[in-house]
Amino acid sequence: MQPYNKNISSQINIYFTKLPKEFSQSIKKQLQQQLQQLQSSKRRADHVIGRELLKKVIEANTGIDKRKIVFSENEYGKPFINIEDKSIQFNLSHTKDIIIASFSNDIEVGIDIEERNRDFFDIMPEVFTNKEIEMVNQGTHINDRLDNFYTLWTRKEAITKAMGLGLNYNFKNIEFESLELNKLNMLLEWWYYTFPLGSRYIVSVARKGKFDIPFIHEVSLDALF
Ligand SMILES: CC(C)(COP(=O)(O)OP(=O)(O)OC[C@H]1O[C@@H](n2cnc3c(N)ncnc32)[C@H](O)[C@@H]1OP(=O)(O)O)[C@@H](O)C(=O)NCCC(=O)NCCS
Repeated sequence: MQPYNKNISSQINIYFTKLPKEFSQSIKKQLQQQLQQLQSSKRRADHVIGRELLKKVIEANTGIDKRKIVFSENEYGKPFINIEDKSIQFNLSHTKDIIIASFSNDIEVGIDIEERNRDFFDIMPEVFTNKEIEMVNQGTHINDRLDNFYTLWTRKEAITKAMGLGLNYNFKNIEFESLELNKLNMLLEWWYYTFPLGSRYIVSVARKGKFDIPFIHEVSLDALF
């Protein structure tokens, strides 16, 4: 894996790995070994693969052997690493078949991916402002309303994950005014970027400092083990 340019502070790099319906025998074996060492709440294949993706990118950018990389978590569960090179900030998100991680130079970052297929419109009053609910409902077709919903949801989650708080922060404190995709935008001190990944997913990435349109890299599952 090529290192990215850590001298450009406005850069965000996004790496994603697709998960197969069925793991190969060799990956299954390695997953089983690693899963045994985890506490039950983290005993999930997507958790192990997410950590492998993070380690692979961190190793490429710091030269630290990935077997020596140890993760800690803040009080709300946000992972970080204790190494001298503080310029590596990252965050992770998964769906059942994609793991995605964002890397930002120096500044804390958040990322969220969601599959745009499930209707959770009932929770809108708890997480969206009245204006945002109107924006979602402007979609004439259900698929447009789902896209609108997940555009707002992933943005809110990316920002609150950049804060390190996740769902502990009241989503209604953040109000978006547009649903534009593929464009860098700013809300208060937050910069964010929302884009579709393939035809099934919506991703948002966010941090406090301005950044350029992110570079997006796919990493095969085999390259992680
Ligand atoms: C973080 C949170 C928003 C993720 O929700 P989600 O949509 O189900 O999950 P995603 O796939 O997008 O993200 C999960 C990843 O986010 C990261 N994450 C976890 N907590 C986080 C936080 N507070 N801030 C930023 N990132 C966080 C982890 O890497 C996690 O993956 P892992 O479980 O494999 O380590 C939600 O779980 C949350 O709010 N958690 C906080 C719970 C809490 O306060 N726990 C305190 C005790 S640890």
